[in-house]
Amino acid sequence: MSLRIRPNVLKMEPYSPGKPISEVKRELGLDRVVKLASNENPFGPSPKAVAAVQQAALDMHIYPDGAAHDLKVAISRKFGVSFDQIMVGNGSDELIHILGLVFLGGESDEMMMGDPSFSRYDAAAHLAPSQLVKIPLDSEYRHDLDAMAGAVTPNTRMIWIANPNNPTGTIIRKHAFERFLDSIREDIVVVLDEAYHEFAESDPELPNSIDYVKQGRNVIGLRTFSKAYGLAGIRVGFGVAPEGIIDATNRAREPFNVNSLAQAAAIAALDDTEHVIRTVEHNRRGLDRLNAAFRELGAEPMESHANFVFADLKQPARPVFAALLKRGVITRSGDVLGLPNCLRVSVGTDEEIDIFVSELKAVFAAGVSN
Ligand SMILES: Cc1ncc(COP(=O)(O)O)c(C=O)c1O
Repeated sequence: MSLRIRPNVLKMEPYSPGKPISEVKRELGLDRVVKLASNENPFGPSPKAVAAVQQAALDMHIYPDGAAHDLKVAISRKFGVSFDQIMVGNGSDELIHILGLVFLGGESDEMMMGDPSFSRYDAAAHLAPSQLVKIPLDSEYRHDLDAMAGAVTPNTRMIWIANPNNPTGTIIRKHAFERFLDSIREDIVVVLDEAYHEFAESDPELPNSIDYVKQGRNVIGLRTFSKAYGLAGIRVGFGVAPEGIIDATNRAREPFNVNSLAQAAAIAALDDTEHVIRTVEHNRRGLDRLNAAFRELGAEPMESHANFVFADLKQPARPVFAALLKRGVITRSGDVLGLPNCLRVSVGTDEEIDIFVSELKAVFAAGVSN
């Protein structure tokens, strides 16, 4: 091709999502397929969100409120954060992308992240473009905050911490995060990506980005409606940050970045606390069951505070992933997530967990060849 594609774009890997159920059914000729690959809500959306979307659909010929006023008011009330410190996006994925564009772009700018962590930070760094600095997780698969602080250079602009982390599910605690934050220069922004916050927030030692934004620190918090709120398909997430950062993202974003159905769904979902509580309580039991099943087979699950388990199988995970897929269970193999011996599985319904556990046992009993 004679057209010139920017070299930083060619450095990017296309995102590899969990396989859709319909594709697996079609390719493998299976009737029953269980997807535990994308950390979705096993109970589905809140019925209140479904009703709100049905109502909002009647007005889908009208452009959405580009300022997402009512959604921001609802977020502001629920989380006690000022309206001017809130941004909303087409999933938190979009906010990751916009923040990269807002803060990075100089040839020597550096963006730091844990390794492994969420792959969209890589994408934001490459697209901006900027230099990507990846710091391995510590021996317990948590962000190594001392190593991250030690790797800061005069060119560091932005640091990403997913808490709980994806794909490991591990967390860093308040005292460690605050010590880290105090050691970071004022011209560096620290992003706490809290996509799985609701599953971990009963831990009083879990940092909460909103507290730091209220204190006027250079912290951005990202949250999503895709996980505990069960709205992954309609795409909506939000962020909290100092006003100056919100102003910059408003300049950089598309004018109607959150569609009207998503705004209506998110407002209704925020109002359905019971749905989130039920999801989080079920998740705790689901994690216990998955952890026990992995341990019984000699695998080592990481200490997850999210809605999935990442387990070290002590052998390459790809053949196990492939064998499970043939049996109609979609998981994620660690070779695409940075740890090839690990398998990631989301907490499903009780029935889905039953199916996963019995199929995993069958795969181990049959023996998997590399
Ligand atoms: C750590 C983390 N951040 C952000 C996201 C993106 O979520 P969404 O774009 O659906 O809001 C995910 C999704 O899996 C995630 O795991």
